[in-house]
Amino acid sequence: MKAIIIHEFGGPEVMKIEEVERPVPQADEILVKMYASGVNPADYVVRQGGNEILKPFLKLPLGLGLDGAGEIEEFGSDVKGFKKGDKVYGIPNFLSGTYAEFIAAKATQFALMPNNVSFNEAGAIPSCALMAWNGMDLGNVSAGQRVLINGAAGGIGTLALQFAKAKGAYVISTASKQNFDFLKQLGSDEVIDYNDENFGGLLQDIDVVFDASPVRNKDARMIMAGALKDGGRFVSVQLPYPFSEEFLGILAKKHAEAKMIRRELDVAQSLTDIAKLIEAGKVSVVISKVYPLEKAAEAHAELETKHVRGKIVLEIRKED
Ligand SMILES: NC(=O)c1ccc[n+]([C@@H]2O[C@H](COP(=O)([O-])OP(=O)(O)OC[C@H]3O[C@@H](n4cnc5c(N)ncnc54)[C@H](OP(=O)(O)O)[C@@H]3O)[C@@H](O)[C@H]2O)c1
Repeated sequence: MKAIIIHEFGGPEVMKIEEVERPVPQADEILVKMYASGVNPADYVVRQGGNEILKPFLKLPLGLGLDGAGEIEEFGSDVKGFKKGDKVYGIPNFLSGTYAEFIAAKATQFALMPNNVSFNEAGAIPSCALMAWNGMDLGNVSAGQRVLINGAAGGIGTLALQFAKAKGAYVISTASKQNFDFLKQLGSDEVIDYNDENFGGLLQDIDVVFDASPVRNKDARMIMAGALKDGGRFVSVQLPYPFSEEFLGILAKKHAEAKMIRRELDVAQSLTDIAKLIEAGKVSVVISKVYPLEKAAEAHAELETKHVRGKIVLEIRKED
């Protein structure tokens, strides 16, 4: 089978499409015939050699890709609840590489994909949606709250904005100007330019900040913390960028809490709940571009601009 593999860390050119052995599922695993893989910031971070958190886990050669969608081809003897041909989406075993024609993965990391989306759309959802889902949970987002989504136009942000709206929150998004109309159409009540000189002055009485920006920015973090209400919550997706003492000091004065998103949630149940929202028409998947597997280098170069709207997807095989 074909897969994208790296034998050295570096720029997009280190990704090579190669013939590799098709994996064999273990007793608790499914073999997924992949149709689409999401392209996520972690993919280019891994390709570059990792960050503070990932570096110790990276051993070459490596397959790339965190999430995707496909059809169940085979399953191990202990797997319950799936059958051959089921259309599924999920996040396989860490670093197992979804830029591939087949992957073996723990069945508990997958769920039936929403029945009203294509494989390309389903493949774009899992990792970003799980981060946004976890963020809403850690933020205790509920109806009537004022929720700030920083970086609302990106992969995580577009889903977080819609999850917050589905919970009945009043959503204030940040983006650059070219995304204002897009985010209003997606349901945002207000959109603010994070480059505005008066960024802090435009933010008030925020119950929950969900920081989904791909850019580490100390000043923006402080300004958003300053806009929180007493007892508010600040949730960040920037795992390798810990909260500083100064930042935590601002939150402590407001009796506010800071949380980092976590990976250890019930993946299958969360993806099933997310599929229901999508099937109910409450959440849509925004795809800015689909690349064929062999154009993974172009997909990475585009995502690394950090200005993709919604998601980029790698199409691994075409749907009938
Ligand atoms: N994707 C995952 O599964 C995942 C998992 C764990 C952690 N994370 C973390 O989450 C971050 C975001 O992930 P993502 O997949 O949503 O990234 P992404 O899709 O690449 O984010 C792109 C978006 O970021 C916005 N943006 C760029 N610069 C910004 C700034 N200075 N302030 C606010 N927004 C800005 C852009 O909006 P404009 O074009 O309007 O500027 C663009 O739409 C990653 O960098 C990573 O640290 C991601």
